[in-house]
Formats: sequence, C-alpha cells, structure tokens
Amino acid sequence: MKTAIIYYSLGGNCALAAAALKDLFAGAGKTADLVEIKTVDAKRRRGFAKYAWGCSQVLLGKKPALRPLDFDPAGYDLLILGAPVWAGSPAPPAASFLRTVDLRGKRAALFCCHAGGKGRALEKFRALLPGAVIAGEIDLVNPAGNPGGLREKLRPWVESLGGPGAGRPRGTDGQRIDGDEGGCGVGKQAAP
Ligand SMILES: Cc1cc2nc3c(=O)[nH]c(=O)nc-3n(C[C@H](O)[C@H](O)[C@H](O)COP(=O)(O)O)c2cc1C
Repeated sequence: MKTAIIYYSLGGNCALAAAALKDLFAGAGKTADLVEIKTVDAKRRRGFAKYAWGCSQVLLGKKPALRPLDFDPAGYDLLILGAPVWAGSPAPPAASFLRTVDLRGKRAALFCCHAGGKGRALEKFRALLPGAVIAGEIDLVNPAGNPGGLREKLRPWVESLGGPGAGRPRGTDGQRIDGDEGGCGVGKQAAP
C-alpha cells in the first residue's frame, strides 16, 4: 500500500502530526510520502493580524495560490490530508489544493489540528473531496503541546487505516492536549 500524507501547516502542528504519521507508517513497515502544501504568500503574520487575515480568508471564500507541487495522486492507494482549523473550516490552502486534483474513487483519510473548537471542520473537509472513499478522520488539539500524546492518539488510527473495515467513516473524538486559544470564535459552539 502506497500512502501520501498531504498537509498544510501554518504554525507547525499539522506538520508535526504529518511527520508522526509518516513515522508510524514506517514503524508498521509501510512507506508514506510527505507532501507539504505551501502558499505563494509566505508573509509571516502574528497575533491579531494572523487571525484576522486567516479568518477573513475563510469568510471570504478565498482560495490562495499555491506553490507548484510535484504530486500525482494516481501513484497512491491512500491519501491522508491534513489542515489546521481556521474559523471552523479547514484552512483555505487545503481547498486550493483539492481543486487541483480529482480524488473521485480514491481512498482518503482526513486529519485536522485545532485549539479545541473544531466546529464542523471535518464535515467541511469531507465535502471538498466529492466521490472519495473516506477511510478515516481524526482531529488533534494543538499536538505541538504534547508530541508524546500525539503518537498514542495516532497509532490506533494508523492501524485502522491499514486494517479491516477501512472505508467506513470513523469517529472524530478530539482529545484536548493543549490550549492555544485559537480562531475567530467560529466553531467553538459546535456540538461535542
Ligand atoms: C486564522 C486562524 C484561525 C483559527 N481558527 C480556529 C478555530 O476556529 N477553532 C480552533 O479550535 N482553532 C482555531 N485556530 C487554531 C489552529 O487551528 C490550531 O492552533 C492548529 O493546531 C494550528 O495548526 P498549524 O500549527 O499546523 O497551523 C485558528 C488559527 C488561526 C491562525
């Protein structure tokens, strides 16, 4: 089984999760390629400006331009896609990427990183992959705050992706690891 882990990360949490996933696949004797989605706009924003800019991208439905990516989904049996939650949605670069590929009929799994208010981000993420077979979903609360806990949480998920029953949607029981108060207040009211 050939797997690609495709992720966008602004602050390093999804990057950490993607690297942990790759290691877990390697530990199970399986190869997984890491593919990082990068935006053309590489300006570093901090504090309020970062949240205002990111949330406005979501609320305005922006699809930011991406740096060229040498990636062909045809070569993979499983695509794991990861993105941070911005304003209760997957960060817009994920949508930009998903406009460039046709994943109908492909087996895919989704992860998102958030600060405790994922809202409907995974549902919205799923909606960006029409026709794909969603093999699993997981959400992670700011894993950079607890890299050890990250592996413990990801291990059974990785096993489930390779094991029997793959292809059925799985739970999204976010585990609070750390508390970077994130976002624009969107998504915090979502049902648990
Ligand atoms: C613009 C912006 C909006 C965010 N919105 C949310 C949100 O709605 N809910 C939430 O729980 N966290 C939100 N966060 C926090 C991030 O989702 C969280 O810190 C995530 O782990 C960041 O992943 P990254 O480090 O890979 O970029 C937001 C962060 C930013 C920068």
